[in-house]
Amino acid sequence: MPIKDDVILEEGVVIFHPDLVNLYGCHIGSGTRIGTFVEIQSDARIGANCKIQSHSFICSGVVIEDGVFVGHGVMFTNDRFPAATRADGTLQGADDWTCLPTLVRRGASIGSNATILPELTIGEGALVAAGAVVTKSVPDHAIVAGVPARVVGSTLPAAPDQA
Ligand SMILES: CC(C)(COP(=O)(O)OP(=O)(O)OC[C@H]1O[C@@H](n2cnc3c(N)ncnc32)[C@H](O)[C@@H]1OP(=O)(O)O)[C@@H](O)C(=O)NCCC(=O)NCCS
Repeated sequence: MPIKDDVILEEGVVIFHPDLVNLYGCHIGSGTRIGTFVEIQSDARIGANCKIQSHSFICSGVVIEDGVFVGHGVMFTNDRFPAATRADGTLQGADDWTCLPTLVRRGASIGSNATILPELTIGEGALVAAGAVVTKSVPDHAIVAGVPARVVGSTLPAAPDQA
């Protein structure tokens, strides 16, 4: 089923194509809009009035506060050293790894095709450029770009010149 029974959808959530998403065990805040081919895993939490654009992957361990924009094809992660198997060649199970958290603070925006490494915070009102690979926490209101992402600007209006 594309939206499992254990998903909590608050009032006014819009899922444009409910048959073309994969949501399970997650919590979606009121008024949030979710595009096509989005996957949101168990225990991920999305705030109110967010926009989650098509093809994005939001994994367990991710918390997104209110008013956040997630562009197309944004990839979150929750395992820094992923592996399919144990040393003996058998498949890893749930007990073989630790889910690492990520926090996206209120009003932040994440550009299309960005990859967000785990154990970091994207600050309030920050902007992640398209295609960035975010490896460290992003300060509030910073614009970060590149691989690895570096601060290249601010989303705050420039201060007036001191003449
Ligand atoms: C980062 C961003 C906000 C910068 O926009 P801007 O302030 O108009 O910047 P400019 O286009 O004037 O570019 C300034 C410099 O940053 C570089 N740059 C712009 N976007 C970049 C990106 N995504 N990654 C790396 N470098 C980037 C430009 O090449 C330019 O470099 P230069 O000074 O060496 O020539 C914008 O390019 C961006 O990525 N926005 C997100 C778009 C998106 O994903 N939208 C999602 C929904 S459609």
